[in-house]
Amino acid sequence: MSSALRSLKGGSLLPKILVGVLIIGIFFQLQWSSSSSSTPAAIEDETSTPPEYFNDKPAKASAHAETPKPTPAAASDAHDYSKTFVSYGPTKCLPEFTDKMKAAAIERNHTCAKYAPFTVQESRRVAFAGITTGKPVEAYQRAIASQMFAAAVQGTSAHILCDQLFDSTWNKIAFLLNLVMNEMLKPANERLEWIMWIDRDAIILDPCRPLSSFLPPNTPDFDDVNLITNNDALGLNNGVFLFKVSDWATNYFNAVLAFRYFRPDEQLTQAEQSGMDRIMHEDKFKKGFVRVPWYWFNAYPDEDDSVNKYREGRETEDLEWFRARKGDYVVHFAGDDGRSGRMPDWENMIEEVGNVYEKKEQQRDVTKEVEKYWQSWKAGSLTEHQITGEKWREENVEGKNKKEG
Ligand SMILES: *[C@@H]1O[C@H](CO)[C@@H](O)[C@H](O)[C@H]1NC(C)=O
Repeated sequence: MSSALRSLKGGSLLPKILVGVLIIGIFFQLQWSSSSSSTPAAIEDETSTPPEYFNDKPAKASAHAETPKPTPAAASDAHDYSKTFVSYGPTKCLPEFTDKMKAAAIERNHTCAKYAPFTVQESRRVAFAGITTGKPVEAYQRAIASQMFAAAVQGTSAHILCDQLFDSTWNKIAFLLNLVMNEMLKPANERLEWIMWIDRDAIILDPCRPLSSFLPPNTPDFDDVNLITNNDALGLNNGVFLFKVSDWATNYFNAVLAFRYFRPDEQLTQAEQSGMDRIMHEDKFKKGFVRVPWYWFNAYPDEDDSVNKYREGRETEDLEWFRARKGDYVVHFAGDDGRSGRMPDWENMIEEVGNVYEKKEQQRDVTKEVEKYWQSWKAGSLTEHQITGEKWREENVEGKNKKEG
């Protein structure tokens, strides 16, 4: 090396080589700079709208909207909903979230903060999950829109599967397993913490209430709580429930999904609902679930004149404790064969009623009851009544004198 340099120094070749290197250098410099100006830009374009798995078109649309054009104030204020509503599968099944709904969500966000008699902020990373497949039906599309509305009000997200990932109603379990595993791949401080499964025949009545308000306090005392379920008159109802994103949930949904393979001779009269019920009571899982009163987040409509009873806040004597009242989170049309006809009446009425807290119309507020429930759970002193909620009427409507019994 050094001898070669010396020999170059000696000759008159050096200036020529230097000039040659300079020319080549300038040539490549130009090449590099022109290619480097496109590569980072392409990367930047991708990172500015992170691709969500199976995401829907909004992400792409917003990437195009990035082109620097002077936009009117209203458009530049527009919130990006591509992470709020996430659809899964090739079919586009999400109802349109219109500008009117966006404006209503922003307004409700403000009136909830102003009037709701409880903390409206989410304290955990939470989301909704649901499925709708087949031909769109107005009743269900609008119920899903109510779920999307709640996610928009709270600033959370709704994850909806539009296709069959697995056979029949077992699709629900497959989707939840998929969701949990996807979340578990993310860093712990980014992944969702809790997910509410919600059927497409369940309408959200109270978008002011944060999902976190149903959850146990975020302390190690409650580490075992992974699944929050409720029973209706027939036993477990898996139309609406909450679960923690955890290894427990992965194991649980995996076991439920494999049920038919490992126990082909066992009858499951309610398909995946029976599967969930059977598995959660097994030794390996029974410590992980709790049962709470169904009206917390799975109230049913009254059988007679339910729309008017709710609208007028009538606390009639025959209105059972688990029937939807103002202040309840959800009304669920479980097992109602005429639901696709009845649900739109509710959906219209809820829009008319608006925020029940604005006029102090709420008939039920479970906030204190939920807090008490978790204290009792921790102390190991839960009563049958705290689990079923069946004395709610007696204590809150008939015997208001019995306060804090
Ligand atoms: C309103 O939106 C903000 C931002 O997403 C959120 O922090 C707040 O909790 C929301 N309020 C209600 C009532 O959901």
